This record gives sequence, C-alpha cells and structure tokens, in this order.
Amino acid sequence: MNTSVDWEQIIDNLKMGNYPVLGNGSGRKVYDLGNDTVLKIAKNIKGYAQNEVESFISEIDESDTFAKVLCASGDNHYLIMEKAGFITNFAFVRSYYRVKSNRELFRLNNLSYIPHKYNLLVSDLCRPVNWGVRENRPVIIDYGFTGRIRRKYY
Ligand SMILES: Nc1ncnc2c1ncn2[C@@H]1O[C@H](COP(=O)(O)OP(=O)(O)O)[C@@H](O)[C@H]1O
Ligand SMILES: [Mg+2]
Repeated sequence: MNTSVDWEQIIDNLKMGNYPVLGNGSGRKVYDLGNDTVLKIAKNIKGYAQNEVESFISEIDESDTFAKVLCASGDNHYLIMEKAGFITNFAFVRSYYRVKSNRELFRLNNLSYIPHKYNLLVSDLCRPVNWGVRENRPVIIDYGFTGRIRRKYY
C-alpha cells in the first residue's frame, strides 16, 4: 500500500468542492478523485472500522475480486480505492462467473473462501450495490462490513 499521499492537498480540494460525490453509505461518504480512484471518508465510528477492514482485506487478498485500496490515512478516516463503474443488475456478476444463482456464486472454487476468511456475509456480498465494474470485470467495492462490525455497531 502506498502511503505517500498528500492528504492535506486532498482535504483542501475537498473543502473547495473539487470532488463530485459518488455515493453515500451508512458509514462513509464517497467522492470521485478524478484519476480513476475514489475517496471514502468515514462519517462515524462504523465508517472508520469499515475503512480499516477494507485496507486489511485489500492488503492480504491475492485475487482480483476486490477493488483495491491504494492507500488509507493512519487513523482510517480517509481511504483511497480504485474507482468502479455502477452495475445495475446482478445478472452481470452471475453471467461473468457463469452461474445461475447467487447461492452457486459463493460456492465456486475461486469465491468460496471469501465469506469465512474475511467474515463477510453472502447476503451482503450478493447485493448489487456492493459491486462495481472495472475493465468489464465485476469487482466488490463495499467489503468492510464484517460480522464483527455488524455485532458491534448495528
Ligand atoms: N470503489 C468505488 N467506485 C465507485 N463507487 C463507489 C466505490 N466505493 C463506493 N462507491 C459508491 O459509494 C457508495 C457508498 O460507499 P460504500 O463503500 O458502500 O460505503 P458504506 O460502507 O458506508 O456503505 C456505494 O454504494 C457506491 O455507490
Ligand atoms: Mg455500502
């Protein structure tokens, strides 16, 4: 992970309104940084925890299934991630992986390790809003919501 990011410059740009808002989740607000990356800003304690989890998973995961975290601030307030395009239909993900049902998806050899290794729920992983597209491939963009965080904050 690259930590040589000029956070002050990014925060200045943010204050000047230079970054369009891309989305707003329960824990984070997401801005388009304009260079194929997004900025996720924690809005509350859950958001900090989610940023921390995404940094961790992105660092240890060796697949291309997750949109990569490029950098995060030491306090997990800010996180920079590869930008993905919107997907409107989960059929795109199923068709990419050549499965007929969501249940089959996380039974595939190359995805079945994800729920237990990272403590992520299949029901969350199968929500279209948690996926995006990069280079015509589906990628998971919201993967900070582990069972531990659910129990602690929700
Ligand atoms: N990597 C990304 N590329 C493009 N849009 C994103 C990306 N990550 C998040 N978003 C947008 O921002 C919204 C909120 O981000 P998300 O990670 O889901 O935050 P939360 O964990 O608070 O739900 C998403 O639903 C999506 O619309
Ligand atoms: Mg979300």
